[in-house]
Amino acid sequence: MKLLENVDNILEKDPAARSRLEVVLCYPGFHVMVSHKVANFLWQRGMTTVARCVSQAARVWTGIEIHPGATIGRRVFIDHGMGVVIGETTIIGDDVVIYQGVTLGAGAAARMGSASRGKKRHPTLGNGVVVGSGAEIQGDIIVGDNVRVASGSIVLKDVPPNSVVVGVPGRVIYRDGVKVTSESVPDIEAEAIKSLKHRLEKLEHLVAAAPDINRESFEVPVEDFSTADSKNTQVVDDGTDPVDVFLHGAGI
Ligand SMILES: CC(C)(COP(=O)(O)OP(=O)(O)OC[C@H]1O[C@@H](n2cnc3c(N)ncnc32)[C@H](O)[C@@H]1OP(=O)(O)O)[C@@H](O)C(=O)NCCC(=O)NCCS
Repeated sequence: MKLLENVDNILEKDPAARSRLEVVLCYPGFHVMVSHKVANFLWQRGMTTVARCVSQAARVWTGIEIHPGATIGRRVFIDHGMGVVIGETTIIGDDVVIYQGVTLGAGAAARMGSASRGKKRHPTLGNGVVVGSGAEIQGDIIVGDNVRVASGSIVLKDVPPNSVVVGVPGRVIYRDGVKVTSESVPDIEAEAIKSLKHRLEKLEHLVAAAPDINRESFEVPVEDFSTADSKNTQVVDDGTDPVDVFLHGAGI
């Protein structure tokens, strides 16, 4: 009955799915859930190597790697799935949707090797969470109920329920349906550039105020400051300050 529930859930969530038969035959997200039930059953009974073999066979078939020890709730839908990795101590609630390329990983604990064996080192996802394609959720953190994680985000800290998280590192931009303003969520890159610009301006004032300075020795071509390949870099000489352009939002 629970497997049928998974099939109907996929039919409901994926507009591309047309029939139960299609879901059963063609959905790796369904196949991997069936194999995980078997692998998890074996894992719980101490048959860890056989359980890993089942999980690895499913990985070859579906492109989705779920460790047999992971705890997965009801109606979890891994859409497309290729490249999804779900670690051993991950806990996933009910009605979660995970897209391709998502990692639910061990984060910094991975570096500790066997010293972290047996410890909770992977994330816990609440009910109704959506994790967009290519997102990384790392470490023993809690992602609250109904959180939506944008594609390509990297989440390393707990996320409060009913939030939307975007970016690298992940930042909450909506909470309980209300946009979180930039005043309470600073833009780290912009702040860093603002600080650099401020220091540069101070330096320019100091140089301009110094009486006995050979100013020609400070005339350095712009390319010298760039680590980019200057031959392939388009520099628009329209008088605009690229730092100002960046600070006003372009390219962020
Ligand atoms: C993050 C997400 C879950 C939010 O969905 P939503 O709540 O319905 O809202 P929206 O899509 O309108 O996005 C909300 C805000 O997040 C921003 N956003 C969405 N995805 C983003 C991303 N990957 N990176 C940065 N910002 C993103 C939007 O620009 C929007 O900002 P705004 O309100 O300032 O205009 C959704 O955009 C998403 O990424 N879903 C995963 C989709 C996916 O993986 N599809 C694969 C299918 S094959």
